[in-house]
Amino acid sequence: MAHHDDLIAQDILAYLDVQENKSFLRFITCGSVDDGKSTLIGRLLYDSKLIYEDQLESIERDSKKFGTQGEGIDFALLVDGLAAEREQGITIDVAYRFFSTDKRKFIVADTPGHEQYTRNMATGASTADVAILLIDARHGVQVQTRRHSIIASLLGIKHIVVAINKMDLVDFSQSTFNKIEEEYRAFAQELDFANITCIPMSALNGDNIIDKSENTPWYQGQSLMRFLETVDVSEDETKGNFRLPVQWVNRPNLDFRGFSGTIASGQIKPGDEIIAIPSGKRSHVKAIVTMDGDLESAQKHQAITLTLTDEIDISRGDMICGVDNPSAQSDQFLSKLLWMSDKPLLPGRTYLMKTTNKTIPVTVTDLKHKINVNDFSHEAGKTLALNEVGVCNLSLDQAIAFDPYKENRNTGSFILIDRHSNETVGMGLLDFSLRRASNVVWQELEIGQAERANQKRQKPALLWFTGLSGSGKSTIANLVEKKLFDMGHHTYILDGDNVRHGLNKDLGFTEADRVENIRRVGEVAKLMTDAGLIVLASFISPFRAERQMARRLIDEGRFIEIFIDTSLATAEKRDVKGLYAKARRGEIKNFTGIDSEYQAPKNPELRIATESMTADEAAEKIVSYLSDQGLLRARASADNWQI
Ligand code: ADX
Repeated sequence: MAHHDDLIAQDILAYLDVQENKSFLRFITCGSVDDGKSTLIGRLLYDSKLIYEDQLESIERDSKKFGTQGEGIDFALLVDGLAAEREQGITIDVAYRFFSTDKRKFIVADTPGHEQYTRNMATGASTADVAILLIDARHGVQVQTRRHSIIASLLGIKHIVVAINKMDLVDFSQSTFNKIEEEYRAFAQELDFANITCIPMSALNGDNIIDKSENTPWYQGQSLMRFLETVDVSEDETKGNFRLPVQWVNRPNLDFRGFSGTIASGQIKPGDEIIAIPSGKRSHVKAIVTMDGDLESAQKHQAITLTLTDEIDISRGDMICGVDNPSAQSDQFLSKLLWMSDKPLLPGRTYLMKTTNKTIPVTVTDLKHKINVNDFSHEAGKTLALNEVGVCNLSLDQAIAFDPYKENRNTGSFILIDRHSNETVGMGLLDFSLRRASNVVWQELEIGQAERANQKRQKPALLWFTGLSGSGKSTIANLVEKKLFDMGHHTYILDGDNVRHGLNKDLGFTEADRVENIRRVGEVAKLMTDAGLIVLASFISPFRAERQMARRLIDEGRFIEIFIDTSLATAEKRDVKGLYAKARRGEIKNFTGIDSEYQAPKNPELRIATESMTADEAAEKIVSYLSDQGLLRARASADNWQI
């Protein structure tokens, strides 16, 4: 081997030790067909003297036969391993190559450049730390460059090298380089890269590949190899929440039951408590079993088998998680999708979704929009064609354990497979679950709402009082509660002013804060009705959408919207708290009725016109209504009342 390392000859053990302790860098190269990717990789291998002698000989021979460089060595031949490719002069599959220098070991995924092979690029990119994007200095940033950048960003690659190649053909012009760098950086602003390094180079002649080139005295940065050797991509493999997608259940005999898979994130050790998704069952780790004996701990990327202290039901496709922050589960998602098939995506058609450990039927229920790869604008569309990226809703036949892609590259991504051809037709990233309620494990509790309500001998309900400030909501809700209380009902009042002293004291009165105010109150009220209570919520709740949202949280027939209808003039005349006066003077902003909208209910269960009845009459009317609806005990026979 034409390797530069003398250590092999002197001390083979020391050599092996050094090799083993070198850090690893995975990178991909991408670019358009003629940008010179293969030449670049060939040059890296050749110049770092990492080629076997016999390989070198055969390349020198082939260069004369197939090469494009006359008598010179065609470095692309070094890389384009397949004879078929050589003859066509293109690269047609992802080729992984391994090489190492004194400082680092490398795995490079060489991915084809022409349009229809984005799929291979995505495959290569899914494990890469660094992406090298080749740009022909004569042509600048191309659609393909943008597309590859977006894919790299979608796949979570943080480090980008923009290899501005063929600088020899533009006389090593600094201004050409600067122009391309500027254009690329402007475009990439939208993408989530940690760093972008632009290097002027000639892969063919070796400028700025291994050593700094004399042809670019104006370039202050590193050579490509120096960059690759030193870029810090370290990730703490023990960090992150523990996830073991169960690939199979290992049960060789009745005494042994282990759950096998490759750790997708985090670490684990015997004694740790785990939770299985979807069952929600908990246990502790008994042992971490591997081919080489039991481990004291294991972390991301390790293939292990876990045994547990309890016999809990876990199947292939489940996820074993740490108890802090377990995976969520859902069957509805918002996702980003890269389409990789010649046949367009058909919303409504069932495909197979393959995640880390599960393959299940999935339907794209709604293509929300396509993403224009040139400027990231949203475009309407009914379908995705080859290489297009879109945002869509997915509906699965059953719930899966998942994490949003932003949090976990492994458990937040998937591929789509055509059920008939078995081809991979798309790849996607899970953004979030669309069913918020199913976003976390639901603990199965033995005692439910019915039992709790039964014990109180009442029907839980949520009475939602809405109306302007000063309309009389709180006064009336108070009277209603007293009446219900006297009847022996178990009640609780959630009142805007009170809740804003505690739970919601961080919220003001902007539209967004009011939405959040009502969302939280809706959730709390739901928990309280779950506890079997009759809840009276008294909030301006000016927006229909949020009242609607609160309604949806509660069982049908148990959400009673009560519109306390008082004109602005009357409320302002009452002005019990003096707030209207302040608002009129401009001392309070966003005051409902003054400079913030109140959307009156269209079909409330009850409308109380406060200007034509007393508060007590209003309360009486509400209690009668509840009674008529069968929600209350009959007053006369409170003790015999049946649910
Ligand atoms: S809501 O709009 O988010 O539903 P909420 O019912 O919680 O409002 O709180 C309303 C109470 O906060 C009012 O009764 C009033 O006492 C007080 N308040 C203070 N500032 C404002 C404001 N800008 N708009 C409305 N109410 C306000």
